[in-house]
Amino acid sequence: MSLKDELIKDRLPKHVAIIMDGNGRWAKKRGNARVFGHKHGVTAVRETTETAAELGIEYLTLYAFSTENWNRPKTEVDALMSLLVSTISSETGTLMKNNVRLNTIGCKESLPKGVQKKLNDCIEKTSANSGLTLTLALSYSSRWEIIEAFKKVAQDVKDNQLDVDDIDADMVSNYMTTAGIPDPELMIRTSGEYRISNFLLWQLAYSELYFCDILWPDFRRDDLYRALLDFQGRERRFGKTGDQIKK
Ligand code: FPP
Repeated sequence: MSLKDELIKDRLPKHVAIIMDGNGRWAKKRGNARVFGHKHGVTAVRETTETAAELGIEYLTLYAFSTENWNRPKTEVDALMSLLVSTISSETGTLMKNNVRLNTIGCKESLPKGVQKKLNDCIEKTSANSGLTLTLALSYSSRWEIIEAFKKVAQDVKDNQLDVDDIDADMVSNYMTTAGIPDPELMIRTSGEYRISNFLLWQLAYSELYFCDILWPDFRRDDLYRALLDFQGRERRFGKTGDQIKK
């Protein structure tokens, strides 16, 4: 029986989030520059997106460029931005074929104009697709997002658009960049690092965390199936006892 066949189709997560890590180490192991790893990471992005779409997963969120990544050497940042542009150009057809809608979270204004335009064009072109929503976190960090949310809440209270007593968890979720998207039930991080790295801190409150040693450019269908099977073996308690959940 293949790993895919072992999956329980009606117990798949609606939303999977991934920290794609290990591109640099993958390249270094091969005696190449870090950018070589990012380029090969695109294959893993394509295969993961296609697999998630085929399985009927509704949301896939990929951490593609963090706020902190701006501090990398300029050559690497420039190469990553060029890679984004070329990947969006080459992959829009694949997104259309797989009925995938593109979305982004993060400080889009801080991205180069050319990247913004490519993203906006692809978001527009794929906007009527009704399958998987692929969200790229770009120039994103959770603390940035939370600060932005605080500012909007404060402004809305000041403008009498919001009553302080109405602030609850649902309302805070609606001030996040992921408003309207359910929280990820599963968060995967590749490359053997056990950190959240400023990714979806609010949204991951009850997510199952899955860490694997595979470096991102090597991540393939079976690796996603393995993560999903592991998820399906977990008991999600949300603070309750195991006995309460089984009732
Ligand atoms: C982390 O590996 C990866 C990134 C910072 C970039 C992710 C980009 C891609 C997978 C390619 C382009 C993506 C899209 C969506 C087109 P790292 O560089 O931190 O690796 P290391 O920990 O081994 O140094």
